[in-house]
Amino acid sequence: MDKLLLIDDEADVQYSFRRIFDQSGIELTAANSGEEGLKLLAGLKPDLVIMDVRMGGISGLETLRRMRQVDAKLMVIMMTAYGTTQTAIEAMKLGAYDYLLKPFDVPRLKQIVLNALKAARDMKQVVSYQPLLESEDYDVGIIGRSEGMQNVFKTIGQLASSNATALITGESGTGKELVARAIYHHGKRSGLPFLAINCAAIPENLLESELFGHEKGAFTGATAQRIGKFEQCDGGTVFLDEIGDMALTTQAKILRVLQSGSFERVGGNQTIKVDVRIVAATHRALEQAVAAREFREDLFYRLNVVRIHIPPLRERREDIPLLVNYFLKKFAQAQGCPPKSIAAATVEMLQRCHWPGNVRELENVIQRATVMAKGDVIVAADLPPLAASANSPAPPAPAAPDETKDMAALSRALFQWARENPSLKILPAVERELIIQALLETKGNQARAAKLLGITRATLRKRVEKFHIKQELAIQ
Ligand SMILES: Nc1ncnc2c1ncn2[C@@H]1O[C@H](COP(=O)(O)OP(=O)(O)OP(=O)(O)O)[C@@H](O)[C@H]1O
Ligand SMILES: [Mg+2]
Repeated sequence: MDKLLLIDDEADVQYSFRRIFDQSGIELTAANSGEEGLKLLAGLKPDLVIMDVRMGGISGLETLRRMRQVDAKLMVIMMTAYGTTQTAIEAMKLGAYDYLLKPFDVPRLKQIVLNALKAARDMKQVVSYQPLLESEDYDVGIIGRSEGMQNVFKTIGQLASSNATALITGESGTGKELVARAIYHHGKRSGLPFLAINCAAIPENLLESELFGHEKGAFTGATAQRIGKFEQCDGGTVFLDEIGDMALTTQAKILRVLQSGSFERVGGNQTIKVDVRIVAATHRALEQAVAAREFREDLFYRLNVVRIHIPPLRERREDIPLLVNYFLKKFAQAQGCPPKSIAAATVEMLQRCHWPGNVRELENVIQRATVMAKGDVIVAADLPPLAASANSPAPPAPAAPDETKDMAALSRALFQWARENPSLKILPAVERELIIQALLETKGNQARAAKLLGITRATLRKRVEKFHIKQELAIQ
């Protein structure tokens, strides 16, 4: 269970936190002062601290400074009743993860807490990349004995002691994020923060402000100064996920950070210097993006100093049995029951599949089979229909007419459902569900979700707003 330490001397605030986080799966401990919070720290080992800036005794800011001396990776969210005060900004410069304005908006508070807890987990969970994972700890490991994966492991090892920038490429679901986290964990900066930013999930106009921060009045809506991720993560590692989707203007600024460690906040003229290690990843073929002038050539060469390419799963089929075993054990451990086994013929069948969604797709299939299998042994009937590989003797993928037929059958079933629930507005309801599904599938990546849905990103954004989808996904 995640542990949250609240430090605030106001009884009202403590009371509302208890109400908000009651039965949320988060264990809440409250302290009345900075001194008390600091004392609790070592014994409690909280995953997240939420602290007021103004308190009797030592200030929130001073408490934050002392906490970060003990643990530079500790996630701290500051609260302030004074939106424009310099204190919130100072807190961010000191490495606070975020800040909240009082009185707080409950959905936003929950969202910030969930984001911070995820970031804290990403930092804490050590990713092991040893190819022969004999350990009983099936938490996070990169599995693979194929030559392609051995090369990946070797490069992670070589990178560990350096500060070099790394570019991780590979199709969707091949494990790019896992590799980025392994580079962090086995590197010199593992005791310092790691912040991940998904460049494709943040609207273009907000990404620069997210990365570099902005000054008050820099653009409409910039009502206060904001500290960006680079400044917040000084000394640590920033993971720029889906960098291939970044706008050209932002690319130019990233290049400057790589060359000189410096940047200006949006709308500001003070040059800020930071020391961050950049690890980037993309599913796009950057060489092609460079040729199409969608990606800066100079930035590409700068990032490409150390390149880790993760081959698609269909090019390393010998890893499939290992991965299947690993996932069976992992899901069994999560459910607290003995792992199911799988028929040899079924594993062979899995080895012949095409796996367009790579390891993520295989992981989902095994998770589903673990739940669905009636017996202790998973057989082919427990698996969903899977795309056969083009170079395997399995039957060809279904032709278009069948898909149309399936679609018609699906629509008939939906209509039946609508008839049984007359109050349901079927079209918007289905549209909303499809959008949520696409966003879950792409982990909130709007560009890819729009592509999956066959609509433009702008249309998707409008629908997300119209159907209030963000709130729903955030509090799930
Ligand atoms: N070699 C591996 N061993 C174990 N698990 C893996 C491996 N590769 C990927 N996974 C798992 O597959 C899922 C997808 O991995 P990850 O998110 O790192 O992929 P990705 O390349 O970043 O995908 P995307 O391009 O869609 O963001 C995760 O749950 C991850 O733990
Ligand atoms: Mg990823």
